[in-house]
Amino acid sequence: MQLYVDSANINEIRHAASLGVIHGVTTNPSLLAKEDPNVDVKQRILEIYQTVGGHLSVEVISTDTAGMLKEAEGILSWFPEATIKIPMIEAGLSAVKELSRQNIPTNVTLIFSPTQALAANNAGASYVSVFLGRLDDLAQDGVQVVEEVCEIWDRHGLESQIIAASIRHPMHILQCAKAGADIATVPYKTLIQSLKHPLTDSGLQSFLKDYEKMQAEKAKLLGNV
Ligand code: E4P
Repeated sequence: MQLYVDSANINEIRHAASLGVIHGVTTNPSLLAKEDPNVDVKQRILEIYQTVGGHLSVEVISTDTAGMLKEAEGILSWFPEATIKIPMIEAGLSAVKELSRQNIPTNVTLIFSPTQALAANNAGASYVSVFLGRLDDLAQDGVQVVEEVCEIWDRHGLESQIIAASIRHPMHILQCAKAGADIATVPYKTLIQSLKHPLTDSGLQSFLKDYEKMQAEKAKLLGNV
């Protein structure tokens, strides 16, 4: 399962990219706004792409098909490698159908049920983003929805890539990997948490201490010769 970082913060993205563990970035209008309300979106997106170079989803904000297509055209004029992120609404499905006809990659976002994922796939989405955390927030089982989507995909050999989104903690990453999601898009903090284990830190400390001890013993022996 590939990992993307779900962020618009360039420092976070740079650091995640430097670790070599991410294959792409997803953004959304809220993440961009959280960074800096005055952020130059175009500049930030290009900066992110120069940093990571893999998948980069850029979300439209129109809610009608014509508007979405116009926005997509605008985005692609300055960033031809963009994956256009489209909300899971009827107008969005029509936009996905048209963009797919033009071989333009799309990521259908705000998917909360297997039937929505299926519809997005059938409209021609390249990626379907299933939001877990927001379901968990409503006491619904987000991981179960990802599992159901993966089961349907396996049974029917469907083509869209499944992105597990709205990830809240490392356990979500593990559960989505076990379920068979293709990608998890993870907030920076959760990504870093998922790399850590206290036994790694304490193990490293004892290796270093033992090595130092060994060097000191050697120095002592040499001193005695
Ligand atoms: C995915 O593409 C979304 O940007 C993201 O995962 C939303 O997550 P949130 O529920 O933490 O806002």
